[in-house]
Amino acid sequence: MITVVLGTQWGDEGKGKVIDYLAEDVDIVARYQGGANAGHTVVVNGRQFIFHLVPSGILYPDKVCVIGNGVVIDPVSFLEEVSYLKDNGIDVEGRLFVAENAHITLPYHKLLDQIEDRFRGKGSLGTTGRGIGTTYADKFNRVGIRAVDFLDDDIFRNKLDIALELKNYLFREYYKEKMLNKDKIYEEYKEAREGMKGMVRNTSLYLHDEVEKGRHVLAEGAQGTFLDIDFGTYPYVTASNSISGGACTGLGVSPKKISRIIGVVKAYTTRVGMGPFPTELDGEEGDNLRKTGNEYGATTGRPRRCGWFDSVLVKFACMVNGIDELVMTKLDVLSGQEKIKIGVAYEFGGEIHNDYTFNSKVFSNCSVVYEEMAGWCDDIGRVKEYRHLPANAKKYIERIEQLIEVPISKISVGSSREQTISK
Ligand code: IMP
Repeated sequence: MITVVLGTQWGDEGKGKVIDYLAEDVDIVARYQGGANAGHTVVVNGRQFIFHLVPSGILYPDKVCVIGNGVVIDPVSFLEEVSYLKDNGIDVEGRLFVAENAHITLPYHKLLDQIEDRFRGKGSLGTTGRGIGTTYADKFNRVGIRAVDFLDDDIFRNKLDIALELKNYLFREYYKEKMLNKDKIYEEYKEAREGMKGMVRNTSLYLHDEVEKGRHVLAEGAQGTFLDIDFGTYPYVTASNSISGGACTGLGVSPKKISRIIGVVKAYTTRVGMGPFPTELDGEEGDNLRKTGNEYGATTGRPRRCGWFDSVLVKFACMVNGIDELVMTKLDVLSGQEKIKIGVAYEFGGEIHNDYTFNSKVFSNCSVVYEEMAGWCDDIGRVKEYRHLPANAKKYIERIEQLIEVPISKISVGSSREQTISK
């Protein structure tokens, strides 16, 4: 059985905590897309862990974690995370696997990502600069290096040669940058290749066998639905399929094996990087949400843009992902707001749009039709049962459920595992 967990907005919905919470009841946690651009924050017994590549399920000593073929792996970042875990008493030996056919991010990917985003000028995407888009571009351009290639001396040298040929031409002739040296990269990655050796395997076969044996797999998405390369606010998106369908291609599992899809939704909306954001709050209101919610990127430290809940977006996310239930995070951040707004439609050129649109003219320039609700003042961080939430908080949750037509099964009211309410 496979359960998929993913973000329903622009990432940073608090998936790290939700995955950590759900991981308790599964056997394997498997990540299916993205790379070191993601930052999943988990707080256990007052200790904070930030994961970029390793699934947060690793904190449970009896869980196996898989990094699927849909993920792009920066070996340095990955091994740093592994050694950080080891230093903190978390042993990953024999329970952390990397797909043989996952693509590897190398220094030229990062360099090119940063240069390209700079060269885009006004059209800059505000990428994380982690070489994500450029690694996926090489994969699709068929000049990528997979984990299995990376480990083989001859293949790695050969593929590095081919990849660097074009990259160095671009660096030298077009971007006027220094060229990268193949031998230097080869030497620099010797240790990383050694470090990854015992972990790389055919994870598609492994997952298939485990599912056949009756094991429960939690497939973890990174980023969020509106950063999906196909369904997000293109071109202001990441370079992979973060939607639930991505779990099949990113892990090599059959859609027939997926039995449940859980969406994570923040009680308001945030976005990092460039791109349209209809319900964004400028000025003091946005600043206040950012401060209260500590909305700074876990990967880049950039301040997140903040705004009201957008039910049009989340409704589309529920549809395109086939979401069965939602977990709402950070409801506590809204405490103290006198009035809370929910975006329920967009207005552009005198027309009302009740649905998410791929038309960037509409989506970038629309105004939002809001519903306004009364807020609550109580600190809800210690509330353990749904019925003890302030009446206005319950009204807010129930109105959102009505608008998006999917039940909210859990509500998170703080960063620790215990601050989770079942509804
Ligand atoms: P890239 O994934 O680094 O190529 O960045 C593309 C866009 O996705 C940028 O706007 C990033 O800020 C955004 N992005 C990438 N990863 C995350 C994430 O984990 N959370 C939120 N935004 C992200």
